[in-house]
Amino acid sequence: MCGIVGYVGSKDALPILIESLKKLEYRGYDSSGVGFLDHKANLVVRKSKGKIRNLEELIRTQPVPFAHTGISHTRWATHGFPSDINSHPHTDSKHHIAVVHNGIIENYQELREELKKKGVKFVSETDSEVIPQLIASVYKGDLAQAVRQTLLRLKGTFALGVISRDNPDCLVAARVGSPLIIGVGDGENFIASDVPAILDYTRRVIYLQDGQMAVLSKTSQELFTFDGKKVKVKIDTVSFSVTAARKEGYAHFMLKEIHEQPLVLEQMINLRLKNGKLTLEGLGISDDSLKNIRKILVVACGTAYHAGMVGKYIIENLVRLPVEVDTSSEYRYRDPLVDRHTLVLAVSQSGETADTLAAAREAHAKGAKVIAICNVVGSSLAREADGILYTYAGPEIGVASTKAYSAQLMMFYLIALKLAQLRKTLPPKRSKELISQLTNMPSLYKEILRNTQHIQKIAEANSHFGCFLFLGRHVNYPSALEGALKLKEISYIPAEGYAAGEMKHGPIALIDEYRAVVCINPQSHVYEKMASNIQEIRARKGNVIAIATQGDVQVKHNADFVVEIPLTDELLSPLTVILPLQLLAYFIALKRGCYVAHPRIFAKPLTVVSGPSMLGPVRYLHPGNFNAIYRLNTHRQSKRHHPARH
Ligand code: G6P
Repeated sequence: MCGIVGYVGSKDALPILIESLKKLEYRGYDSSGVGFLDHKANLVVRKSKGKIRNLEELIRTQPVPFAHTGISHTRWATHGFPSDINSHPHTDSKHHIAVVHNGIIENYQELREELKKKGVKFVSETDSEVIPQLIASVYKGDLAQAVRQTLLRLKGTFALGVISRDNPDCLVAARVGSPLIIGVGDGENFIASDVPAILDYTRRVIYLQDGQMAVLSKTSQELFTFDGKKVKVKIDTVSFSVTAARKEGYAHFMLKEIHEQPLVLEQMINLRLKNGKLTLEGLGISDDSLKNIRKILVVACGTAYHAGMVGKYIIENLVRLPVEVDTSSEYRYRDPLVDRHTLVLAVSQSGETADTLAAAREAHAKGAKVIAICNVVGSSLAREADGILYTYAGPEIGVASTKAYSAQLMMFYLIALKLAQLRKTLPPKRSKELISQLTNMPSLYKEILRNTQHIQKIAEANSHFGCFLFLGRHVNYPSALEGALKLKEISYIPAEGYAAGEMKHGPIALIDEYRAVVCINPQSHVYEKMASNIQEIRARKGNVIAIATQGDVQVKHNADFVVEIPLTDELLSPLTVILPLQLLAYFIALKRGCYVAHPRIFAKPLTVVSGPSMLGPVRYLHPGNFNAIYRLNTHRQSKRHHPARH
């Protein structure tokens, strides 16, 4: 889970590599580095522990010459702790070849031992260093060929950028299981882990597929399978604008993305609800098949998992169809019971989270239809699923997920309504009423956001608490989990989300004057139950922050602070309560001086695989590619000419 960028063109590569890398800092930020070829084709590498500003500082003290080919990397450590040496790019011992890598090379120990026996000296503790060393060991004047031979030896996941001093106008890239796109410019080409990195330069992209490598010069893009077969190049145009990847005056991407939510929902509604008629283009499953589903299974991680939990309440209520929700990391290891009558909804903002990909593959292998609910167009999950419902929320750069969550919720409402219509489980009047309220949701969002200052004041007044509980019931139990997750991930305050009815079974012991308890209690059939929970907290001197419906007089007597939200159907309330929860987390973190942009320890998306290899399930879905990767050991000499060093 790192970010990589590469450039080949005529401009000065350094500022491009650094500025583009900054847009990928959400993927990892414990160290960074650049490598490029100067005008004498010397390989120059600068790398530094810490954030990209440390690298910039290093370059100020150790200036680098003009170069027009280069690679850069921002790291999230897996093998080897964060240090200058373990940072990327890594080079071969002769310092001829440099590589940036995102992913994990699972057989690196074996490759390292093999190379050591041949006298190769390793300097880092990383798995990645075997890659340039292996390329160098087979290099016979053709970089693409040497990379290809190396790719056939690697097991695990990787996205790579490779440059060599013998090929100063050439950038080689490859991927298996980790994202990588190619940006096509005028007289220049880029590689990047994610589209926002290159949006300042081009909106034309090639989505490199698993098992493909690219050989780029400033004017050409050639794609090959790992066994050397040429692949037709397909260039897509990215629909979102350059401003989508900029902060546009907001202090942080998280705040910007919170404020983008009315627009995101509006766009989704405009796209999916035409004259009150639901269109779920991309679903990839016939209406007849949808009618015959016996069970829905949602697999997801983190925030997407919480959206899935809300989805369970909604679908079970509106469609009367059983829904199971599992964290992908559990699902994939528990030999689950699914069959062709199960519809699997794999939810992932990035579409690259390794556990969710593996869970989707596992379910697919067992005969289930898999629909991805995904934000990133062209992501691995989107490509592999039987159907894809894009949320089109635009790039989510804030590490704490916000707009992707509300978009995922909206998608669950739309899916539930579609299924309810097909299976005739909902009176048309109720269906119409829900659609009308969903259509009005962007206006409600704007109304809540106008209250931001009030929420900020509440956040600041409570930011000293060292422990938070978030309580909710029914459809807002997942909202409590998501509220707690938002707070802990950016402010590091221990925070627990709980189903309020479970309070008495333990958590109540935590309540005293040193705890803040966020009670989510909009108007609903469980309102009085939740109100009793608030009384129990008050009786123990807990500090209550209530999220309640406008005009709720009762709550004002019982809570220390109240955030009001507009009245909606109770099933839709997770959409409205999430905004104050996101803002509370943001402003508490800000008040405590936390680094909201780059929370410690984690980054997104989690493409790191822990535990057994992903390769089994991958092979099931991509027999062509993966047979090529793992079986082929004959390498045809490429006829491609690479300009000699100059
Ligand atoms: C990380 C992120 C979360 C996100 C989760 C799943 O933990 O920090 O914000 O919800 O990954 O990511 P995905 O891209 O699969 O939705």
